[in-house]
Amino acid sequence: MTKSIILLLLMSCLACSSPSSNIDSHSDSHIDSNNHAQTEPSLYQEMGEKPALDNIIDNLINIIGQDDVVFAHFAQSNVTRFKDQLTVFLCHLADGPCQYKGDSMKDIHQGMYINKNEFNHFVELFIEAMDNADISYPIQNKLLARLAPLRKTIIKI
Ligand code: HEM
Repeated sequence: MTKSIILLLLMSCLACSSPSSNIDSHSDSHIDSNNHAQTEPSLYQEMGEKPALDNIIDNLINIIGQDDVVFAHFAQSNVTRFKDQLTVFLCHLADGPCQYKGDSMKDIHQGMYINKNEFNHFVELFIEAMDNADISYPIQNKLLARLAPLRKTIIKI
C-alpha cells in the first residue's frame, strides 16, 4: 500500500519543487541529549551500498535493453557512460560517498523530449530493477521519494 502511494506521488508529482542544485542534499545527523553527534545510517548504507547499487543499475540496463517503450531513447547511448554517471548520481542522491558533478537532469534530458508515459514507464522499470536486486519496499520508497522532484525537470512534453 505504501509503495503504491509513493509510486502515485512520483508519477503525478506536479507540485514538487526543483532541486536548487543538481542534487538536493539530505542530512540524517542530529545531536543527542548528551550533545554528541549521532549519525543514522545513510540511505546508501541502508540499501546495501555499492554492491546493491551496482545490482540495481545492471538490472535496469538489462531491462531497458528489452523494453519497447523507452529503448529507442537509449539506442545510440554510450552504455558504459550512462552506467557510470547513473551510479554516481544515485550514490550521491542516497547520501553515499560520491559527488555527482555532471550536468543537471534538466540539461541532460531536455533534448530527448521525454513524455509523461515514458517517464512513468521508466519508473516502473526502475522498481522492477530494485525488486530484482531484493531491495526492501521501505528502502525502495525512500529512493523513489528522492527521485520524485526530478519528474518535472525530465518530462518535456
Ligand atoms: C528519475 C529518472 C531519471 C534519472 C535519475 C536519470 C538519470 C540519468 C543520468 C545520471 C544520466 C547520465 C548523464 C550523462 O551521461 O552525463 C542519464 C542519461 C540518459 N537518460 Fe536519464 N534519468 C532518468 C529518466 C530518464 C528517462 C525517463 C529516460 C527516457 C525515457 C531517460 C533517458 C536517458 C538517456 C537516453 C540518457 C543518455 C545516455 C547516454 O547517451 O549517455 N532518462 N539519465
